[in-house]
Amino acid sequence: MRINSYQEYKEVYQKSVENPSEFWNSIAEQFVWRKKWDKVLEYDWSKPSTKWFLNAKLNITENCLDRHLKDKGDQIAIIWEPNDPKEDAKHISYKELHSQVCAFANVLKNNGVTKGDRVCIYMPMVAELAVAVLACARIGAIHSVVFAGFSSTALAARINDATCKVLLTADGSFRGNKITPLKDIADEALKTCPSIEKTIVYQRTQQEISWNPSLDVWWHEELEKVDNHCPAEEMDSEDMLFILYTSGSTGKPKGMVHTCGGYMVYTAYSFQNVFQYKQGDIYWCTADIGWITGHSYIVYGPLSSGATTVMFEGVPSYPDFGRFWEVCEKHKVNQFYTAPTAIRALAKHPTELIDKYDLSDLKVLGTVGEPINEEAWHWYDDYVGKNKCPIVDTWWQTETGGMMISSLAGITEDKPTFATLPLPGIQPVLLDHDGTEISETKAEGILAIKHPWPSLARTIYGDHERYKNVYFSAYPDHYFPGDGALRDENGNYRITGRVDDVVIVSGHNLGTAPIENAINEHEKVVESAVVGFPHDIKGNALYAYVITYDGVEENDQLIKEVREVVSNTIGPIAKPDKIQFVKGLPKTRSGKIMRRILRKVASNDISNLGDVSTLLNPEVVEDIIENKL
Ligand code: WTA
Repeated sequence: MRINSYQEYKEVYQKSVENPSEFWNSIAEQFVWRKKWDKVLEYDWSKPSTKWFLNAKLNITENCLDRHLKDKGDQIAIIWEPNDPKEDAKHISYKELHSQVCAFANVLKNNGVTKGDRVCIYMPMVAELAVAVLACARIGAIHSVVFAGFSSTALAARINDATCKVLLTADGSFRGNKITPLKDIADEALKTCPSIEKTIVYQRTQQEISWNPSLDVWWHEELEKVDNHCPAEEMDSEDMLFILYTSGSTGKPKGMVHTCGGYMVYTAYSFQNVFQYKQGDIYWCTADIGWITGHSYIVYGPLSSGATTVMFEGVPSYPDFGRFWEVCEKHKVNQFYTAPTAIRALAKHPTELIDKYDLSDLKVLGTVGEPINEEAWHWYDDYVGKNKCPIVDTWWQTETGGMMISSLAGITEDKPTFATLPLPGIQPVLLDHDGTEISETKAEGILAIKHPWPSLARTIYGDHERYKNVYFSAYPDHYFPGDGALRDENGNYRITGRVDDVVIVSGHNLGTAPIENAINEHEKVVESAVVGFPHDIKGNALYAYVITYDGVEENDQLIKEVREVVSNTIGPIAKPDKIQFVKGLPKTRSGKIMRRILRKVASNDISNLGDVSTLLNPEVVEDIIENKL
């Protein structure tokens, strides 16, 4: 399944475009199916409907677990690293994981869960979270993991949207030196969630919790009642595997629906190719399983590839900002996958925190979730990768299920700030505003995908109309991800940011992401966010929120310099009219800047900021409003 050279990539890619069905047929052959498909692909994007591996039968956990038992039952499947470095890590073999998943699947059954039921999972990053996800898949229950940093209101909204029957949670969670009372939050949420019939509580922090005997049962007590034998439920390729809500930066969260067959094939294929995972490697993705990155590239992709995957309970800053590197050394990590926002936070700290540790096992670095600015890219390359590790900048979305545009580590070339080339089977195009495909190679436009791939989300749970409107209506016969991109003369794509973040200033289209990139180039700047605000003459003007390093004097001279950097990098037209120095930027729990709030403040429209409850750092909003220009 793994591509081994640039030449091979070119050939495979070509084949995947010329005959997608034949290509995916040959990849899918390499998995374990109960029954093979009658047809590889059937789709009609005017409905929209997409079906892969029609009428095939499988259970994804037989690919993630059972198939490995014969040859690598004793190999480690999951290395779990706790929040507190003094606590022991866990090494769970494939045999043990299989046994734990089967046992917990029986717990779910004992508590009334059957095929097709929705199970909400609101848990810390303990190994049992992965077990719970797989246990649902084992019996054909649909998991809906809600990130354990969400508020009770956000949790309740997600439980109710999917009418979940059972909730899996924990007494509390450890993250850094913070303990979050998950059970209390869940109790609060459940006041408005009539569909929940049982709550299964994992004991992690041992803190006091309130107990509702008609609803609550202890995880460990339930495990005592079951054995570890649980045959896997037979699923259709197009049966639902899970629902995952996308971060609520705009409007009501969307419950993206992923299905069994295509998702399995694509996550394993992309995992092995992008990271060039070789048997025996130790792979670490720092994401939380509450996000798609954790679903696809901590759990399903690595495990169906028979990999060893690291799960980390904590945060990069605890006990200090060297923790990531300490864990890399400790577990001899070969592939390391994180987010630009983490890289930028770490880059603020002295590099001695990296140099203390032996990172010589690292072979591949990865990023995901937002455009990575040039400065952060080079810091990652220089200090973490020591200029010897390829960096895969992976562009994809909750909706796409797997990585879409990325270099293949060491096989295709990487290029700072470019996600680079599409994976085999992925057909990106650039469109102009009328939806016409731009034929020149070197161009800038709206990114769209013109052919289905196996892990595309099939619908929004309970709202197919919205699915159609958001992704398939803007440009007929294309999937519209909502991002803009530019393409260089070699066909490399650079994601320029959300197309809704394009600001038209004096008739010029300006992407805010490149302007931010430019501002971040200034040596005194940590991070920035640029939004548009209405301007009498220009139509729109730019407002920049800028965070500087500790101890920097935020004066007129610096404002001048920041404007100059932008002017020099992009052009005078892109110079922000207003620059406000801020302590932090409002971020969603997945690390995305909530631009809606910044746009409102910039436009002096602060009476109705909308829902800020899902923010990671609501306190910065007050500071921003108080000091607005
Ligand atoms: C952005 C995360 C630039 C993009 C897997 C996309 C990126 C949204 C990149 C999806 C990247 C993700 N370069 N931008 N490498 N990766 N994005 O659903 O705007 O949390 O549409 O999925 O993140 O975010 P989501």
